[in-house]
Amino acid sequence: MDTDRLLQQLTDFLRIPSISTLPAHSADCRAAAEWVAAELRRLGCREVQFLASGTHPVVWGVGPEVPGAPTLLLYGHYDVQPPDPLDEWTTPPFQPSVRDGRLFARGAADDKGQVFCLLKAIETAGRPRVNFRFLIEGEEEYGSRVLFDLLRREPERTRADAVLIADMAYVAPRWPAVYTALRGLCYAEITVRTAKSDLHSGEFGGAAPNAHEELLRLLGRLKGPDGKINIPGLYAAVKRPTRAELATWRRLPFSETQFLKQRVQAKALAGLKQYSVLERLWALPTFEIHGVLGGFTGEGAKTVIPAEATAKVSLRLVPNQKLKTVERQLAAAVKRLAPRHVQASVRFLHGADPAVVPVDHPAFRLLDRAFREVVGRGTVAVRAGGSIPVVPALGKSGAPVVLTGIGLPDDRLHAPNEKLDLKQLWEGIRVFRRFYELLGSKGV
Ligand code: BES
Ligand code: MN
Ligand code: MN
Repeated sequence: MDTDRLLQQLTDFLRIPSISTLPAHSADCRAAAEWVAAELRRLGCREVQFLASGTHPVVWGVGPEVPGAPTLLLYGHYDVQPPDPLDEWTTPPFQPSVRDGRLFARGAADDKGQVFCLLKAIETAGRPRVNFRFLIEGEEEYGSRVLFDLLRREPERTRADAVLIADMAYVAPRWPAVYTALRGLCYAEITVRTAKSDLHSGEFGGAAPNAHEELLRLLGRLKGPDGKINIPGLYAAVKRPTRAELATWRRLPFSETQFLKQRVQAKALAGLKQYSVLERLWALPTFEIHGVLGGFTGEGAKTVIPAEATAKVSLRLVPNQKLKTVERQLAAAVKRLAPRHVQASVRFLHGADPAVVPVDHPAFRLLDRAFREVVGRGTVAVRAGGSIPVVPALGKSGAPVVLTGIGLPDDRLHAPNEKLDLKQLWEGIRVFRRFYELLGSKGV
């Protein structure tokens, strides 16, 4: 492998600030889509198209036809999360930089570096006997609404013998993983209004209601200090992990103390203490507050009673919860918990059902073998705490959805100083190349 050239190419991709959630970066998203399309053309794709190009385009590709060979659909995303807070990055997020064998940049691991592995594994394999299809989207980090609607209209795009997604991590260095479940997501804004407009806190303070105070009390009621979420019915559908799953999780190279000290780097962990940390991360719903808007937050001081306050929140959902049900439950809980003199409303921004992926299809044995040969250890089946909204839709045609990844748990996805270890990058290319070879020669 010409690693210098490959690193240069990945660097070009990472330099594009394709932040899907910020309208100011639309042109950058398009540039990243163009980068992907050019790669697909280089791979000899018969068809390269931008689908749903009203927003950030979904890049669709159909590889060279190999008669009789199995069809493999590769899914990934070229969009990234906003990089802030900027001053916590050692080097700027969109100026990729290698230090100690690690490539630092927004998107290095999530997901540009991994999409790069999937593509370069084809290029460096020299025509594996596989009919490739590509769906590389640009709105994964913003809920994948466009691709979701597209696949509802055109489900035949997902017709394949297998779907491969590389957007996750090993469970620990040298421990590759395959994922049996992803959490879903319900993202919302909760807005509280207490008066017609803001009021002078001297003239009215002590007698007028305060929107921030009401909002914070409401949020405090939605989740108690013990970590329990007070949304009636929320836990009813939650399916307990099986005994076999819990037994596997106990044998993983995972220590709760190290997780706290090295990864979370806080004084204590939060959540339902009667459950193990892995159960809290993989098998229980969450409620998080992402930010609170309204009132006065500028420099200096302003004495005002805010009339309106908004919180951006989200719930992670687990098997067998349903997004639609949870939306209803959250809206009802907000209504019930807000005092009568307060106008509270909920606006849903995006969401996803949780995904459950059986891993007994022959394709999983091929992936296991590819990892075993290249890394020296096969895949362990675990769950993920994160979400990939279109996964349930990608599996609708009946194809097995192989969820894996070549990142490491300390890659700092969505956070400052996101990185990808170069060892993982080169290893990833070799693993996927071997997977394609096995798929081409053994079929599924
Ligand atoms: N690659 C992640 C999902 C992920 C992260 C899976 C960690 C497993 C472990 C993906 O890009 C992501 O961040 N998804 C968003 C989706 C959301 C914005 C709809 C997420 O989980 O927050
Ligand atoms: Mn991702
Ligand atoms: Mn992400």
